Amino acid sequence: MTFDIDMIKAVYEKYPERVAAARKILNKPLTLTEKILYTHLSEGAAKEVFERGKSYVDFAPDRIAMQDATAQMALLQFMQAGKPQTAVPTTVHCDHLIQAKDGAEKDLQESINKSSEVFNFLDSVSSKYGIGFWKPGAGIIHQVVLENYAFPGGMMIGTDSHTVNAGGLGMVAIGVGGADAVDVMAGMPWELKFPKLIGVKLTGKLSGWTAPKDIILKVAGILTVKGGTGAIIEYFGEGAKNLSCTGKGTICNMGAEVGATTSNFGYDESMERYLRATGRADVADLANGIGEHLTGDAEVYENPEKYFDQVIKIDLNTLAPHINGPFTPDLATAVHDMKEVAGKSDWPTKIEWGLIGSCTNSSYEDISRASSIAEDALAKGLRPKAEFGINPGSEQVRYTIERDGYINTFERLGAKIFTNACGPCIGQWARAGADKQEKNSIIHSFNRNFSKRADGNPNTHAFVTSPEMVAAIAIAGDLTFNPITDTLINDKGEAVKLAEPTGFELPPKGFDVKDPGYKAPANDSSEVEVVVNPDSNRLQLLEPFKPWDGKNITGMKLLIKAFGKCTTDHISMAGPWLRYRGHLDNISNNTLTGAMNAFNQETDKVKNQLTGEYGTVPDVQRAYKAVNTPGIVVGDHNYGEGSSREHAAMQPRHLGVKMVLVKSFARIHETNLKKQGLLGLTFANEEDYDKIRENDTIETVDLDQFAEGKPIHIRFKHDDGTEDVIKTNHTYNDGQIAWYKAGSALNLIKEIHAN
Ligand code: F3S
Repeated sequence: MTFDIDMIKAVYEKYPERVAAARKILNKPLTLTEKILYTHLSEGAAKEVFERGKSYVDFAPDRIAMQDATAQMALLQFMQAGKPQTAVPTTVHCDHLIQAKDGAEKDLQESINKSSEVFNFLDSVSSKYGIGFWKPGAGIIHQVVLENYAFPGGMMIGTDSHTVNAGGLGMVAIGVGGADAVDVMAGMPWELKFPKLIGVKLTGKLSGWTAPKDIILKVAGILTVKGGTGAIIEYFGEGAKNLSCTGKGTICNMGAEVGATTSNFGYDESMERYLRATGRADVADLANGIGEHLTGDAEVYENPEKYFDQVIKIDLNTLAPHINGPFTPDLATAVHDMKEVAGKSDWPTKIEWGLIGSCTNSSYEDISRASSIAEDALAKGLRPKAEFGINPGSEQVRYTIERDGYINTFERLGAKIFTNACGPCIGQWARAGADKQEKNSIIHSFNRNFSKRADGNPNTHAFVTSPEMVAAIAIAGDLTFNPITDTLINDKGEAVKLAEPTGFELPPKGFDVKDPGYKAPANDSSEVEVVVNPDSNRLQLLEPFKPWDGKNITGMKLLIKAFGKCTTDHISMAGPWLRYRGHLDNISNNTLTGAMNAFNQETDKVKNQLTGEYGTVPDVQRAYKAVNTPGIVVGDHNYGEGSSREHAAMQPRHLGVKMVLVKSFARIHETNLKKQGLLGLTFANEEDYDKIRENDTIETVDLDQFAEGKPIHIRFKHDDGTEDVIKTNHTYNDGQIAWYKAGSALNLIKEIHAN
């Protein structure tokens, strides 16, 4: 199942009735966000009012998209569900595992050679389960989704934080962890805390050097990296209508940088134009039929303060181009202030590289506008002072910009054209000399600029701006260059000024592509064999976790009493371990290595009670597992906060940990533990945390009567012969207790499917 006009038709057919039900129950005019959310309730038409920022609500998304790094474990898990096909249309995109070094052709081949086992697995598993597969080089997930799958009023989830990009086509599109994607693929609902709503009213029109990117750079400066947390940002007003659809995508894309759940725009003519230009006139026709439901009610946009939790107003007529950074995307500086700010801040002002592209800014409009600057510079006898790199967002864009001469323009500037993939945006950039860790500055049109993100060098100051401004500043080689007022000296020694950027919202001759890089799933999946080499150290088929025997757990050894902050990054570190995301046993060698041991205040050093010696957390737990001794992890407050990665629950389970007992859980991690068949408990009395000693042997007292709302008691036997019995609480409901009994949620789905 990939692009599915029947699915969109079915979604739109429900709209009038479901929007009416929501309007009746809420008894007020509706925002676009509310229309989309209330139309996608898994229970059907709205029956109750959900409280923003409080209620947990089950939704039924229309689509799923996954990128190659996160899709591995998600699909390995989905294979456990015993389903013949995914329950909703799903696509996989190979874009993260491709390095940028010498240029597209060579880099792509080398990356394929290096990661062929992962790509072959994703290809075969996609083919088997009805999933559309976008090959390495086909493009970056979010650009490909915008071009092919996003549709106004739809809801999608994706295993990547910039899934939110599809808000540019009027979707509620949200980045999730693999476990959530697996649930929806397996036909289960998807839970989200009902978001708060931030309204951004745009008036006026962009002109000259100002681009859609400047809107989100400005918003990031206002909201900061945390200001959007738990909220959906809805853009509206005349200024919104004046933006291209891909420009809207850029703005929504970087909503992730302010922590927003997602962002969106109401359906308008720019979206219709984009749908028609990308071969989806049928979707545009359908959307036109229910247009009034695909945008917020007029009254909401006229009096936004009444209907949104927070309102921001931006006048595009007076908005200045911005450059954000370094090291954080919310440090916003207007271009005309950069000389002063950079001087005060001691940022290196010589620009070494200008990078254009990524999922944020690689549309036809972006490239044509940036290229107009390059063309103007060449015509005026300017040579770039910095190096240039371009990573197009999709093969369709790359093919079209090549046909229209833009690639040639950049090549005349000496630019390297990288593969249509994430490349430098995700640190997949073999930048010459980065290992020397010299202080330097680069400027790019990407979204994130945290330390080390692009080239691994903590001293690289990365600045984020629009593609046209990247072009101008890289040509000048100077962070403080303001193309609106400043001149550059050309090859004849003359002072010249760059002309304002010009470009095309959409290709005047239409999009074109020879091979978009898409592979449809097999018609007959029984003929497809999922390819996993048993000797692989990057991929490993999963074994179902064992069901619970219904008895109390005895003889548990304390693996670690974690002290203080213990995020999913402490439980399953990222960085070099990303390589093993598809191999549960190998990645388990990082389990809890970042957690601090409360007894010695050290990380990755815990007592092996069998030998009395200290070892790493994974080694000690493997030693326990070897003699069938279950482990228990004890934690502090908000245990498992951070990224929703399911590995943080799967790894302890794989290594034989049976229980995680903490003062409090981060909610998503608690749910992930439940899904993986682990017992997640909280202290009824927080002080009991202090009663747990390093040499304890632990057993449950009344787990055999596991029931909803019933506390569980745990006995801690100390090595001096004394013991403490403590009371713990849990939040398992009957359905989740059924997961626990079956060994995991997926085991239960499989059982139900088999019967
Ligand atoms: Fe890829 Fe960077 Fe976007 S990693 S998905 S281009 S944010």
